[in-house]
Amino acid sequence: MSFSMDFISMNLVTMMYLIASVCFIQALKGLSSPANARKGNAFGMSGMAIAAVTTLALILKLKSQATGGSIGYLLVIGGVVVGGGIGALLAKKVEMTKMPELVAAMHSLIGLAAVCIAVAAVSEPHAFNIAALGEALPLGNRIELFIGTFVGAITFSGSVIAFGKLSGKYKFRLFQGAPVSFPGQHMLNLVLALVMVGLGLVFCLAGGSEPAWIPFIVMTAIAFALGVLIIIPIGGADMPVVVSMLNSYSGWAAAGIGFSLNNAMLIIAGSLVGSSGAILSYIMCKAMNRSFFNVILGGFGGDPAAAGPAGAQEARPVKAGSADDAAFIMANAESVIIVPGYGLAVARAQHSLKELVEKLTHKGVSVKYAIHPVAGRMPGHMNVLLAEAEVPYDQVFEMEDINGEFGQTDVVLVLGANDVVNPAAKDPKSPIAGMPILEAYKAKSIIVNKRSMASGYAGLDNDLFYQANTMMVFGDAKKVIEDMVKAVE
Ligand code: TAP
Repeated sequence: MSFSMDFISMNLVTMMYLIASVCFIQALKGLSSPANARKGNAFGMSGMAIAAVTTLALILKLKSQATGGSIGYLLVIGGVVVGGGIGALLAKKVEMTKMPELVAAMHSLIGLAAVCIAVAAVSEPHAFNIAALGEALPLGNRIELFIGTFVGAITFSGSVIAFGKLSGKYKFRLFQGAPVSFPGQHMLNLVLALVMVGLGLVFCLAGGSEPAWIPFIVMTAIAFALGVLIIIPIGGADMPVVVSMLNSYSGWAAAGIGFSLNNAMLIIAGSLVGSSGAILSYIMCKAMNRSFFNVILGGFGGDPAAAGPAGAQEARPVKAGSADDAAFIMANAESVIIVPGYGLAVARAQHSLKELVEKLTHKGVSVKYAIHPVAGRMPGHMNVLLAEAEVPYDQVFEMEDINGEFGQTDVVLVLGANDVVNPAAKDPKSPIAGMPILEAYKAKSIIVNKRSMASGYAGLDNDLFYQANTMMVFGDAKKVIEDMVKAVE
């Protein structure tokens, strides 16, 4: 199978890369608000399609020039079909609540790809047009490859640990949500990081046409170990920051490799991912009232000792009521604030919730939704969930805009949320001390729907559930809300 690729000129490639870059920038712009998110996604998909097809055409042209036409087209097409097929299948099957795990798994693949490309480029630089056959790698390329490799290796192993922690289904200790720490951990990380950089310098500065393989391989192995060691002490409520941080790392790894391969598209796309991930990490840290270094140094949230002994929750009395009781209280209130959380997403109850709000509004009740920035399991999770049910945006309020209103609100309805309304955050001794919460505890009456007294993601008991003015309504959120809708009618 052979055909000419002569119509692919470097000017055409540059123009297509420019169009793809503009699409990526438009994608980021679109994704900054739920109203434009769909448009943003369409831009992102178009940009990626243009970038992938252009790169593929460019590779085929360069290869055909180098080998006089005999190219493994079937191999390339086979790779695209198999890889694309697996991606499409996963994306179709994945539930919204499992997105963070999928994202972590994807980041790990980007990191691994960066390491593999770097190893191939160090091994055969002439195949990547980095150096002539038999010539040594130029110093600049060695530095780029060193950086791309260690960032990629840390991204890979760190993302594998994050995947395990987020999925919560594996018994393996390192995959548990709770932080894993040991004495001297930070010192060990520092020493390993210094040795890794030292070996990287040896690799970069070594002369000769043969690369300095031993420092390169040991440096890569240390980077894989560091990825694990950096992520295991991070637990519970800090995982959102970790996911966006790994997202940022994966972008920088791709950009680093882009410099080595002299591929402008990889540099631009990698830098966009790297910088947007870094900005998102900063926003998340601010939302959690944590400094970036605090998160990286780990040990926050999910401390089993702080959560109290198992069964401690049952020892304290709680007031429980039915969906009918809750509907009666809300229908007779003037103002209701709804706090959606991860459990609402699990129950897929957003459509029933919208119906409930319509019925309450029809009865003259003022209803608002309050969104915590890390409610659910991914940035913007609750916004996406409510947008799916076409909840009007003017009813949806971000934490800082609505927190002042809880004290004057008749009823707060907490649906499948736990950590984001946990007043323990106000206690300086709590593992989540300082994390801003939705101040539901200030309302005149609080109704909490969840299935049991189990803790939330951070593994902590929640005093809100035991307040004298709180009524628990136990059950799956969808069933409970449907019963509320019937009762309000
Ligand atoms: P969580 O604290 O995780 O609490 C969710 C609650 O929903 C649980 O206590 C659970 O109690 C209840 N629930 C589960 N399924 C339910 C169902 N079908 N019906 C009714 N209730 C159900 O959620 P949150 O308040 O949204 O806080 C999010 C947490 O996740 C934070 O700690 C955050 O740091 C972390 N996190 C966030 C992200 C991002 S980026 N948003 C990413 C990773 C981690 P029962 O089992 O008793 O029902």
